[in-house]
Amino acid sequence: MTDLLFSVKDLVVLVSGGSRGIGRSLAEGFAERGSRVLITGRDEQTLKTTANEISKGTIPVEYIVCNVADPEQIARMVNTAVEKAGRIDCLLNVAGVNVRKRVEQYSIEEFDGILDINLKGAFLVAQAVGRRMIEQKTGGSIMNIDSLNSFRPLKGVQPYAMSKAAISAMTRGMAMEWGEHAIRVNALAPGFILTDLTKKLWADPVMQEWNLANCPLKRLGQPEDLIGTAIFLASDAARFLTGQVIYVDGGITCGVHWPIPLS
Ligand code: NAI
Repeated sequence: MTDLLFSVKDLVVLVSGGSRGIGRSLAEGFAERGSRVLITGRDEQTLKTTANEISKGTIPVEYIVCNVADPEQIARMVNTAVEKAGRIDCLLNVAGVNVRKRVEQYSIEEFDGILDINLKGAFLVAQAVGRRMIEQKTGGSIMNIDSLNSFRPLKGVQPYAMSKAAISAMTRGMAMEWGEHAIRVNALAPGFILTDLTKKLWADPVMQEWNLANCPLKRLGQPEDLIGTAIFLASDAARFLTGQVIYVDGGITCGVHWPIPLS
C-alpha cells in the first residue's frame, strides 16, 4: 500500500537542468511515482533522449528547451509549461555550473558565467514559477538545489560557493514572502555526488581516499541518493516545512575529522 502522505502522484513537476546528472535522476524519481514531469535544458536532442529514457511512469516526460542564463527563454519556458500541463505544483531548480580555479585567476566572464546560471538564473526561474503558483492559488513546493559549499566553502570554487550561499539566503527569503500563498520554498544541498560535473575530480585516487576519511557514510553520493528527500519535500509529509536547507551529504558537513586514529 502506498502511503498517501508521501505521494507525488499527479503533481506537475518542472525540472530546470533535467537533461543529466542530479536533475535527470530527480525527474526520473518523480516520473516513476506518477508525477507529470517536464524537464528543461539547453540542448533539444539531449532533452529528447533523456525524456524518452526516463518516461517509465504512466505519463510521458515532456521537455522544453531553455537556457537559464537568458531571462526571455525562462519566461517563455514557464508559459509553455503551463500551456502544456495546466499548472505547476513543484519546481526543482537544478541547473548549475562550476569552474575550479584560484581566486586570483577568475576572469570577469567566468565569474559572470557562473553567477548568471547558478544565481540569477535560479532566481528568475523561481520568480516566474512563484508568480504562476500565486495566480493558481493552489500553493506549491519549490526546491532550490544548493550545495555543501553554502555551509563552508571549499577551496578553489569561490564564485560557485558564493552562488550557493546566496541560494540558501534566497530560499529563506522566498519562503518568508510566499508562505502566505502556501508556497513552500526549501533547498536541497547535496554533498559529493558522482555526476558528469564531478567525475574527473573523483577519478583521482587521492580524492577518493580523502572522501573515505571524511565522509561518515564512507562513500560518494549517487544522484539517486537525493530522490527520497526531494519526494518528501514535494509531498504533503513536508506541509509545515519551509525555508530550510537540507544537507544530503553522507554527513560530511557534520564536523572536521582527526587525521590520526582515536585510540
Ligand atoms: P551536471 O553538469 O551533470 O548537470 C547540470 C545540469 O544543469 C545539466 O542538465 C545541464 O544541462 C544544466 N545546465 C547547466 N547550465 C545550464 C543553463 N545555462 N541552462 C539550462 N540548464 C543548464 O551537474 P550535477 O552534478 O548534476 O549538478 C546539478 C546541480 O547540483 C547543480 O546546481 C550543482 O551545483 C548541484 N550540486 C552538485 C553536486 C555534485 O557533487 N555533483 C554537489 C552539490 C551541488
